[in-house]
Parts: sequence; C-alpha cells; structure tokens
Amino acid sequence: MAATQHAHWSSRWAFLLAAVGSAVGLGNIWKFPYEAGQGGGGAFVLVYLVFVFLIGTPMLVAELSLGRRGQMSPINSMAKVAREEKRSALWSLIGWSGVVGAFIVISFYSVVGGWTLAYVIKSATGEFNNITAAASADTFVAYISDPVKTIVSHVAFMAITIFIVAKGVQGGLEKAVTFLMPALFALLLILVIYSGIAGDFKATINFLFNPDFDKLFYSETVSATGETVRHFSLDTVLQALGQSFFSLSLALGSIMTYGSYLTRDVNLGKSAVLIASADSAVALMAGLAIFPIVFAYGLDVGQGGGLVFMTLPIAFGQMPFGIVVGTLFFALLAVAAITSSISLLEPPVSYIEEKTNMSRRKVALTMGILAGLVGVLSAYSQGTNMLSDVRIFGLSIMDAKDFLTNNIMMPLAGMFTALFVGWFVSRKSMMDELALEDRTFRVWYFLVRFVSPVAVGVIFVKIIFDVITG
Ligand code: TRP
Repeated sequence: MAATQHAHWSSRWAFLLAAVGSAVGLGNIWKFPYEAGQGGGGAFVLVYLVFVFLIGTPMLVAELSLGRRGQMSPINSMAKVAREEKRSALWSLIGWSGVVGAFIVISFYSVVGGWTLAYVIKSATGEFNNITAAASADTFVAYISDPVKTIVSHVAFMAITIFIVAKGVQGGLEKAVTFLMPALFALLLILVIYSGIAGDFKATINFLFNPDFDKLFYSETVSATGETVRHFSLDTVLQALGQSFFSLSLALGSIMTYGSYLTRDVNLGKSAVLIASADSAVALMAGLAIFPIVFAYGLDVGQGGGLVFMTLPIAFGQMPFGIVVGTLFFALLAVAAITSSISLLEPPVSYIEEKTNMSRRKVALTMGILAGLVGVLSAYSQGTNMLSDVRIFGLSIMDAKDFLTNNIMMPLAGMFTALFVGWFVSRKSMMDELALEDRTFRVWYFLVRFVSPVAVGVIFVKIIFDVITG
C-alpha cells in the first residue's frame, strides 16, 4: 500500500463544488426532463423531490460518513469501519460493488458524454439549421451508428476525464470544478432566461408543477382487442426513486470516495442538504430550460432518451440565435457530464492507488483506458453500429450495463449501506462522526434505519419480480 498520506480537499467549498459536480450530470439535464416528460410532469417531480430529501439526503450523509471515517477507497474504508465496529469483513462488498459499479457506469457514461461533445460541434457548425423532425432523428441515428465518429468522441471525453483525475484531488478535481461549476450555472441561467423569453413558459410551469396523479399511479396498455386498459402501477414512482439515487451519485462509491477526502471539521448534515438542494435545483432548471422550447415548437415531451438529442435540435434549427443557444446547451451538457465522470473514475483509481505503488497518473491512465475499451462495446451497441445485434437478456450491451448497475447493484448496495449504518455501526459512533444536533440526529437515524432500507428494498423486489414475470 502506498505510504503517502491520503489526499484532502483544500476547503469545504471545494468539496461542495466537487460533490455537486458529481451529482449534477447527464442524470439531471438529459434523464430527469425526459423521465418527467414520460411520467406526467408535476406528479413525477413531486415524488422525485420527496425521495431526494427523505431518502437520498440521509443516504448522502451515511455514505459521506463512511468515507470520511475510513479515509480510504470505498473498499478499504468499508473494511476498516467494519473492523472497528467488530463486524464481518464481508461488509467491504459494499465497497467492491461501488468500485466495480462505478467502473461499469463510466464505461457507458463516457459514451453519452462523447455524444454531447459531438453535438456541441454539430450545433456550432449549423448542422441543425432548419432541420426537420425526421432529419433530426436520422442525424442522431446515423451518428451513433458510425463506428469511427462515436469512438472519436468517446475517446475525447475519456481523455478529458483521465487528464483531470490524473492530476489528483487538489490539482485536478478541485481545479476543474472551480472553473467548470460556475460555468455550468452561468450557462444554465442563460438558457433558462432565453427559454423564459422565447419559449412557452406558462405551459412549462403548468406541466412541471401541476401534478397529475393519475399519470403517476396508472399506466395504460393496449389490449389484444385494441382497447386501452388502465391499470394501477408503481413503475413511475419507482423510477423516480431510482432516478433520485442516480442523480445524487449514491451507492456507487463516488460519494464515499469524495467523503474520504474530507476532514473532521466539515458538517456532513448541512453539506448533504446543500448538495441535494443544488442537484434538485439544477434538475428543475434543466426542465425550465428545455420544456418552454419543446412546447413553443409543438414538440413531443414524452420522447424519452431522444428528447435532448433528437427533439431539441429541431427547435434550435428554427429559433433566433439557434446556433448559439444550441451550442451553449450541449456545452452545458458536456460540462455537467465531465464533472460527474471524474467522480466515477475516482473510486476505482483510489482503490488501485492503495493497492499498488503506481503513481496516480499511471493509475488514472490505466483505469481510464480500460474503462474506455469496455466502453467501446457500449458505443458499438447503439443504432445500427457494429454490435447493435448483440443482446444480453434481450437488452443491448449499453442497456444491459445500465440495468445491471442501476437496477441491481445500486439498490443492493444502497440497501446494505443503510442497514450497515443504521443497524451494524454503533449509535454512539454515528453520533460522534456526524456531530449533529440531537433532534436532527434522531430524524436522520430513523430515516436511515427504517425508511431507506425498506424503500430501496421495495425497488429491488419489484425489479426482480419484473424480471421473473418478464
Ligand atoms: N449523478 C450523476 C448524474 O446525474 C452520475 C453519477 C456520477 C453517478 N457518479 C455517480 C450516478 C455515482 C450513480 C453513482 O448524471
């Protein structure tokens, strides 16, 4: 194990920027708006926010505290805390799940990250000028099906991530986020203002904040006889819960690793509330930037994953200053993705750094290249690209990796993290570590012991049930 002292953030502010940078990502700007769009708008937003603050925020505190107490990579931090609490060494499996899961996620996150870079260029060069809906969809599919173009952008995105991680916590992560996060907020603000002026703001407010609970609890299927059947379904609610975990970067080691770079003087409770608030604010602002345009141009809000890459370019191609607005939008998406991807490369890098004597630069390069290579499989599984016919349990390679991490590893790791902190670490150790006010501690403790494990357990059971019943 390298004898050098474990790195630390230079200030609480640097930590907060980095943690918000990790949380705010493709999940907020790409996924959240389309999930809200499909989940009926306001009702989805409402349950999402409840989950973020009731379940996600206490989990943030739990993960940060484990990382800070361990002062090592997730694997060794979990092992150390378990040892100190005289618990089984098997608890380090939570750390393993995080490190391996983060590696898998970055291997496809960087593919979508690459798309954002390519779309900055497409937008800036006027490729969307007066583009029709059909042509926009064709442009996207042609791009993700191109074996050379997708690799170029994937490699470029990965190279930026490696470059930042290689320079270390203070020299790399901190420097990057102190420059990128203000840029992100500025870009987002410009876009919200533009959308507010040029788009249909009223329809957006109505859509995002006027809950339609029917859409939340019922889904419609068309029966064999052609009738639309309405039935009760918790799919959308559970999707909101899953999204709240993904958006807060929970259960994959990112937050635990960032916690390990913390010193004892930082208040974890306040930090978690701040991180969760900033993350939700960005998700909502992304909605306020996107939907006014979607409504003003009469586009479809329920387009799913294509909302950002296929639907929005149609509007950029018609609107005044569309080249500028479109380019800024995809730049925003790229910046958000980069500050998240560094937090995904960090857990494996911090573990290998402890395990070997290699320099951080070498470790970052090695892990980044490995993840990049695994990522090629994801890139090639899209559109009609070379591996698009490969199916794993009926899913494309990219979707299979997403399913494995998002639906299996994250709920399991999240549930066990809550159980560990709530039931297997002594109450006294937790009180000492968190140093919260008495009442706040009690609320947190209750949420982590009872609410989080049950909620996350329910997601898991539901997913397994869905898999079994097809
Ligand atoms: N939270 C990021 C997003 O919203 C993605 C992310 C970064 C992540 N690190 C994570 C998700 C760890 C889960 C776990 O895009």
